[in-house]
Amino acid sequence: MNDNTEAPLLVAARGGRPSRTPVWFMRQAGRSLPEYRKLREGTAMLDACMDPEMVCEITMQPVRRHDVDGAILFSDIVVPLKAAGIDLDIVPGTGPVVAKPIATVSDVNAIPELHEEQVRPVVEAIGLLNAELGDVPLIGFAGAPFTLASYLVEGGPSKNHERTKALMHGNPEMWHALLDRLAAITAEFLRVQVNAGVKAVQLFDSWAGALSERDYREFVLPHSTRVLQSIHGVPRIHFGVGTGELLPAMREAGADVVGVDWRTPLDVAVERLRKAAPDLPLPVVQGNLDPALLFAGLPALEREIDRIKREGEAAAGHIFNLGHGVLPDTDPDMITRAVEMVHKTR
Ligand code: CP3
Repeated sequence: MNDNTEAPLLVAARGGRPSRTPVWFMRQAGRSLPEYRKLREGTAMLDACMDPEMVCEITMQPVRRHDVDGAILFSDIVVPLKAAGIDLDIVPGTGPVVAKPIATVSDVNAIPELHEEQVRPVVEAIGLLNAELGDVPLIGFAGAPFTLASYLVEGGPSKNHERTKALMHGNPEMWHALLDRLAAITAEFLRVQVNAGVKAVQLFDSWAGALSERDYREFVLPHSTRVLQSIHGVPRIHFGVGTGELLPAMREAGADVVGVDWRTPLDVAVERLRKAAPDLPLPVVQGNLDPALLFAGLPALEREIDRIKREGEAAAGHIFNLGHGVLPDTDPDMITRAVEMVHKTR
């Protein structure tokens, strides 16, 4: 296995300023790439995630094409739930759909533990990837307990998360029992990935931005803290969408790198984080180009990238990324050009 501790992404994650600004894009592996669509033809998403050769190839595709500084493991946040035995599927164009949404205490008690052998194909894929990636670090990931709970309680994607919030406030004991079980699955999935050789992990709490800071602190933070505190030896990135109000709390949970969506300028995010924890070192941030800017043409793209790089100088370290995932209709050449622009200056 390669020891790439001097890779730009890992230097920045430790709060350093590497020779070039490291950049990778959430959802860089996926539908924006014709080679991905071709390979995936006839294979269901969750089957693809359990095929080590396919996971390896799909993870490599954006690395070969775009010269990004990180590879994100091709998988999904619901993979460990499915592997543990929860009946769900990923429906194209919709997202995760759960056969029997969580409604009762006995549903919560029936949520199984995850065992390493159930995600053996992921372990194999990580082995294959580390042999192919050279100096480019592989990033593992998992869904945070709250975001997983939202899918399990709502039964699928949700705009308002009303059932989730109703459970949280209406039956806090059942809520905490649910998040406890999900935290155990998430922590185990990340432990397995770190043991198998990923060089960094990202905890996706994609929908945490739906919560007030008060609710986040009471109902989510203890569980995400448990997950993040269980990880040792690799940098931990913590990301959610619309989380401008939650950034200090998300750092408190145990993030080495705070992911920022496009709504909060990076220098503003750094100032909020610094003010909330004046005794801690300056934070490291990741982000935060609006994914829609990849449709705006080269001059606009270059202006935005320059701005974000300037604002990122307020942080101890900056990993360039989007403020959320690559949109499926994105022209892949624009992603390649964006990576060139990020690398071009300093
Ligand atoms: O390139 C990468 O970022 C790696 C792979 C990755 C996928 N899902 C592959 C995928 C990652 C990191 C995820 C995480 C994920 N999955 C999140 C957190 C990140 C975020 O976007 O906030 C969430 C909320 C999910 C749940 C999920 N899975 C959604 C909302 C969807 C999209 C549904 C759709 O079709 O629009 C999926 C399916 C999915 N996961 C696809 C991919 C490439 C598309 C499925 C396909 O290609 O058939």
